[in-house]
Amino acid sequence: MKDAAPQPTLLADYAPYPFTVTEVDLTFRLSPSATRVLARIGLAPNPARPGRHDLRLDGEKLALLSARVDGRPVHPVQDASGLTVAAADLPEGPFTWEAEVEIDPAANTALEGLYMSGGMFCTQCEAEGFRKITFYPDRPDVMAPFRVRIESDLPVLLSNGNPTGTGKGWAEWTDPWPKPAYLFALVAGDLVAVRDRFTTKSGREVALAIWVRRGDEDRCAYAMDSLRRSMRWDEETYGREYDLDVFNIVAVDDFNMGAMENKGLNIFNSKLVLASPETATDADFERIESVIAHEYFHNWTGNRITCRDWFQLCLKEGLTVFRDQEFTKDMRSEPVKRIEDVLVLRARQFREDMGPLAHPVRPDSYIEINNFYTATVYEKGAEVIGMLKRLVGEGGYRRALDLYFDRHDGEAATIEDWLKVFEDATGRDLTQFKRWYTDAGTPRLTVSEAWSPDANGGTYTLTFHQKTPPTPGQDRKPPRVIPIAVGLLNPNGDEVVPTTMLEMTETSQSFRFEGLASRPVPSILRGFSAPVVLDRTVPARERAFLLAHDTDPFNRWEAGRALARDTLARMVGEAAEPSPALIDGLGAVLADGGLDPAFRALCLALPSEDDLAQALHDAGRVPDPDRIHAERLRLETAIARRLEPALSAAFAAMETPGPFSPDAASAGRRSLRLACLALLTRIDGGARAARLFETAGSMTESAGALASLIAADRAGGALAAFHDRWKGNRLVIDKWFTLQPALCPPDRAAGVAERLAAHPDFDWKNPNRFRALLGGLSANHAGFHAASGAGYRFYADWLLRLDPVNPQTAARMSTAFQSWARYDADRRALVRAELDRILAAPGLSRDLTEMAGRIRGAADA
Ligand code: BES
Ligand code: ZN
Repeated sequence: MKDAAPQPTLLADYAPYPFTVTEVDLTFRLSPSATRVLARIGLAPNPARPGRHDLRLDGEKLALLSARVDGRPVHPVQDASGLTVAAADLPEGPFTWEAEVEIDPAANTALEGLYMSGGMFCTQCEAEGFRKITFYPDRPDVMAPFRVRIESDLPVLLSNGNPTGTGKGWAEWTDPWPKPAYLFALVAGDLVAVRDRFTTKSGREVALAIWVRRGDEDRCAYAMDSLRRSMRWDEETYGREYDLDVFNIVAVDDFNMGAMENKGLNIFNSKLVLASPETATDADFERIESVIAHEYFHNWTGNRITCRDWFQLCLKEGLTVFRDQEFTKDMRSEPVKRIEDVLVLRARQFREDMGPLAHPVRPDSYIEINNFYTATVYEKGAEVIGMLKRLVGEGGYRRALDLYFDRHDGEAATIEDWLKVFEDATGRDLTQFKRWYTDAGTPRLTVSEAWSPDANGGTYTLTFHQKTPPTPGQDRKPPRVIPIAVGLLNPNGDEVVPTTMLEMTETSQSFRFEGLASRPVPSILRGFSAPVVLDRTVPARERAFLLAHDTDPFNRWEAGRALARDTLARMVGEAAEPSPALIDGLGAVLADGGLDPAFRALCLALPSEDDLAQALHDAGRVPDPDRIHAERLRLETAIARRLEPALSAAFAAMETPGPFSPDAASAGRRSLRLACLALLTRIDGGARAARLFETAGSMTESAGALASLIAADRAGGALAAFHDRWKGNRLVIDKWFTLQPALCPPDRAAGVAERLAAHPDFDWKNPNRFRALLGGLSANHAGFHAASGAGYRFYADWLLRLDPVNPQTAARMSTAFQSWARYDADRRALVRAELDRILAAPGLSRDLTEMAGRIRGAADA
């Protein structure tokens, strides 16, 4: 029999907790299968909730051994989600709750709460994992100072805050800053530290340490350097200083997410810490730098000021993503980072916003909160802040943020609080702007232009129309305020109107530019000034003109991308020939030595097959994955044939001789080199890739060459050699697991995935390994969507296998099915059958039930 349908949690039901927690004192007696947790918690009536209340504490899978109130034994009523002590059994004023529980970290495969990873104890409490450690009001608006004592024979015992005592077999930690339980962390293991120091701008000495397994010490330097640069940047850019004597980072191999910002004790997936030139790609280095920064920045945006409830998640995540994006722009190249972020936004968030999983940046209901750490909350949440900054300007933004930190330090805040500081600091009314938080869906912007000549030239008028399609549960979408950055170019390429921020507030709105000498060419939505779809039919010649001349680098790239997308759409739909305008335009960019190589590499990459499927769907067509794959390959081949000399020349010129450096300039050269290689492989059968694989001096080149060889279907020997060389290194073997299904010919993708799933190294309970294989398969668009249904079946089989072991990761991976309604009836029927099979599985987790149900709920036709 199925369990009763889980009830959603509603934003509208928020009420403060009836008690405040004045202090938390925890003792851990660690043992893999029987850890004892003793909690001593000071509670007092919360004046915000007058009257007498039962004491309700969250708790899951805890064996309660004893419970006391003010030292007297009590017998709470327990259920599956916690316990209750009746108000009548509580004193009227403040009191102390004490409990001893036993938990089983070794049996915790869900990796939430206290668990084991490779012999080490570690925790993951966000969002609701603390309730698997002890009974507690596990909600972010309950903040308290924590003291922690750890008893264990393991040599390294860590928790939040500052170390306040240690002896043989024990250590004590004190965190003076009140925090919610989701920021609690504990680590115990046989670890070694890579150490450094940092002096804050007011002179506080901070001991920095990155804790890893013995043997991994020599792969921590880049993470440490990133940490120091993040600390300095937050002081210089936001005026935010670190606030403890120590800052610890621990790398763990088994981790559901990327990393976690626990106060003073960040815990990282080891793939986001460990890097050396031999084992990590340039993309890995860049990601490490940004995630180290992200988790560090949470110390102020998330920890000092936290969220009142989980509906406000974007308050910390959207803001912190925005901050880490700004940081990367300052460390590397601003336009390149902007393009990368927009690529991610479109690939993940637009896709989500256009399908069954669409939800507002601030949702108002959820079943399982872990399912709401989404591209919408993160990426769109960051975009919304970017728009806010564009609207109030650099100075207004800084004043608003200063006010935010002043006013809300030590509090659990809301989106209303956030918008209010902007209103108070700038005098602007943000009522309409708030729709970006409450309304789901991606606005579509159409444009028409008019040119009216007059005595001294003419007036150019742009008329915009906005429309947001309905999303689940939200049919009507009133107009939003949209900042539209526009520049105008002369037909000779000169800029006649520099970037101007137009503020669109109505459904339809016109903007006039007077006194122009001749009819201009518009460059619209420069820098991607708002997360909208610009629906504008532009002649290929105008796109080619912008690709050659736009002074805004983002729009220059965008023009090339749109040209490629239009070309591919016509190749797929009308069997058109590859467009010479596109190929010549790309050739010109490739040969332009004045352009950043990283930028040129981005221009050379064609839109993904998934992007094309979405573009065709948007145009009212049913995408055929096999044709999309074939035509994209045909276009790459045509580009390679036509541009071979230039590609070969750039491939040679972009070599990076000398010792490896992960800096942006060197990484940009390698990325252009590999972009050239990928195209050249289409016509040389993999000859260059094979040579590069033999001589590669870095993982970037080695994995890049391997990728090209797999795509050329001649990787047999290279794959064996790669595995043999790296079989001791989990992170590198993850790459081996992901590249094969992602890049092999689509008709073989499911077979390749099946073969890899049977490989002895497929340690599927490790989330990185599981994601490597399944994520690789779903990245192979035509392979995942194979007409036989083999891709879907394999994927669903493994979700079902993982779900009882690790529901959080199974649920996250289920999003691969979210775009199923785009495809033909046969494929839709196949996906529907898989979703039904998943939903019918006995004992399916709440996590996967919610996701599969929401995905299934879409387009029934
Ligand atoms: N707070 C999150 C980690 C988290 C996510 C915990 C979901 C529990 C559930 C952390 O700050 C985070 O956002 N991590 C990201 C990486 C980041 C750079 C966007 C992650 O883990 O993917
Ligand atoms: Zn975060």
